[in-house]
Amino acid sequence: MVVEHNLTKEMTFEFKSRPRRLRKNSAVLSLIEETHLHTADFILPVFIHSGTDVEEIESMPGIFRWPLERLKSQIAFWVDSGIRGFALFPKISSDLKDSEGLEILNTTSLMYEAASILSELTRDFILIADLALDPYTSHGQDGIIGKDGDIDNDLTVEMLTKASVLCAKAGYDWVAPSDMMDGRVGAIRQALDQNSFHQVSIMAYSAKFCSSYYGPFREAIGSSKDKMCIDKSSYQLCPGNAREARRELVLDLEEGADILMVKPAEPYLDIIHWAKQNLSLPIAAYQVSGEYSRVCAASKLGWLDKDSCALESLISIKRAGADLILTYFAERVVELLKK
Ligand code: PBG
Repeated sequence: MVVEHNLTKEMTFEFKSRPRRLRKNSAVLSLIEETHLHTADFILPVFIHSGTDVEEIESMPGIFRWPLERLKSQIAFWVDSGIRGFALFPKISSDLKDSEGLEILNTTSLMYEAASILSELTRDFILIADLALDPYTSHGQDGIIGKDGDIDNDLTVEMLTKASVLCAKAGYDWVAPSDMMDGRVGAIRQALDQNSFHQVSIMAYSAKFCSSYYGPFREAIGSSKDKMCIDKSSYQLCPGNAREARRELVLDLEEGADILMVKPAEPYLDIIHWAKQNLSLPIAAYQVSGEYSRVCAASKLGWLDKDSCALESLISIKRAGADLILTYFAERVVELLKK
């Protein structure tokens, strides 16, 4: 870039620090880079359904609902690319949903079938069952609605506890309660242990905020027609509340969680950072559907570059302190990291 100017460099400066020396070229930059993404950082959320087609999710370009018959080969492909963790989410057909989400206790339900199919693969990956009632309830709430119209905490915990044992029996390595009911981590730990599943880990959605960024996910699992507007504020955290988020993280640690999660990720980097600095468990961050979709949408409009925004967002999440990151960008980013 040549710009005409009439400066004559008559001034000499004796700056003590010239930080730009460390940004001189790509060699220096790579030597001093503080945060690195690794293929092994990522967990890919995977949607499954009972149909026979691979269905693209409209609001999540490049993300699909997989039929069980394609699941084994697809997971094998991802494992081959280096991804080591998969969190499964079922789209339950609406005729199987009811107000209590009883389908979660049906041992031939989609989630349990999927685990049994995947047990045929060499287990050099971690299979995670997301544990919540919302894929199974007709109203899309994560819990059973009590007589007073509120979510019945303890009844919901009872269901999740039973489901956690079914997940362990089906072969899931980790269960991930994403419901935000009080006391569920301790109850699930106790049930798993009583059934001799001491080796099954709990990745707790501990600081899960009541976020508008879950919209595309709710389309993906077919949660509700008015998917944008399900009010979960009686159990998910208020976005402004950092101290309350810390309390939830500490409670799940005390109740026996193995991994603590903050969710969504990028809007809550301060919470991730606090958790990493103050708690001694691995910290997971979930870069949720809306965080993915907003980048895809802007890139479709030609306003943002998808790959570089994906990398930048994930670097930010890692820099804040996440040890593992659930992200829909996992497949793409693993490719980019090979380059
Ligand atoms: C519900 C659940 C949600 C997500 C994971 N588990 C949505 C919700 O709480 O409504 C969101 C994930 C995403 O948006 O990618 N148990």
